[in-house]
Amino acid sequence: MKQQLEAIREKAENKLKELADTQELEQLRVEILGKKGELTSILKQMGKLSAEERPVIGQLANEIRSYIESKIDEKKSELEQAQLLKRLEDEKIDVTLPGKEFSLGNRHPLETVIDEIKEIFVGMGFEIVEGPEVESDYYNFEALNIPKDHPARDTQDTFYITDNILLRTQTSPVQVRVMEKQKPPIRILSPGRVYRSDALDATHSPLFHQIEGLVVDKGITFADLKGTLETFVKRLYGEDSVVRFRPHHFPFTEPSAEVDVQCFGCHGKGCRLCKNEGWIEILGCGMVHPKVLENCGIDPEEYSGFALGLGLERVAMRRYGVDDIRLFYENDVRFLKQFK
Ligand code: PHE
Repeated sequence: MKQQLEAIREKAENKLKELADTQELEQLRVEILGKKGELTSILKQMGKLSAEERPVIGQLANEIRSYIESKIDEKKSELEQAQLLKRLEDEKIDVTLPGKEFSLGNRHPLETVIDEIKEIFVGMGFEIVEGPEVESDYYNFEALNIPKDHPARDTQDTFYITDNILLRTQTSPVQVRVMEKQKPPIRILSPGRVYRSDALDATHSPLFHQIEGLVVDKGITFADLKGTLETFVKRLYGEDSVVRFRPHHFPFTEPSAEVDVQCFGCHGKGCRLCKNEGWIEILGCGMVHPKVLENCGIDPEEYSGFALGLGLERVAMRRYGVDDIRLFYENDVRFLKQFK
């Protein structure tokens, strides 16, 4: 029995040397000192010993028990200390490390130009409205007096979803939607995306932006249109800008015009910016066609109005000297960062 006890002590000592964590240590404690442990089961056999042997072995057993207990405690605090050190090491914070830079984005140049134009028109009493990008043939063409055989209806120009549903090719359908719902006086501005089946190149994109304007009231004349547009252009490009109206044709306005601004690069002499024209076209406009008013339930005998449609990318390209329309859509951060 004495030998058994010594063997236990030896085993405990050997194991303690190999232990790596407190869990293993606890296992060892249960294995040897626990209720069903090796030492305990030996002590249970004490009854078989003679009266002389019993105190000797009892003392030895107690000695060994307290020896192992103290060794385990010692090992325990050693392991805990090591764990603590390791944790401190792992969680160490280097306060001299530079922080992560928090970079603030900036507005897209097209968004900036839309906002600027909106503000000019809102200043003149216009209200901002929006219309759907997926439109019906009726709103995009039919109600705008664009006949069935008009070239704009060709599938080469228009993205059709079904025979009757398409991606709007202009913001003008918003005119119809507004006039159907609202009684004059009407003064609205509607920016948004439009789609045309054009191949992507430096000046064309199948997706671009227009801004539509519409005014309907009693006694609206072409003079109101001219005055509004001149004010707009001067606010946008500066008081000294020069505007020119050129007769044009749109099915939904009569008379119609295109508006040019004198090139600010050369003041009309001709340069690279205006492709030697001296003038730069910026929008289409005209007096709302009586048929369009009628289609929307507005009496053309009582009311008249004007409409305008402006290509946003052109304005932005000129404003920022961007010579490739694709740059607006590619989301290249190197490009976008320049508009901070
Ligand atoms: N919708 C026309 C276009 O896309 C522009 C326009 C709008 C012309 C309103 C006149 C009046 O070319």
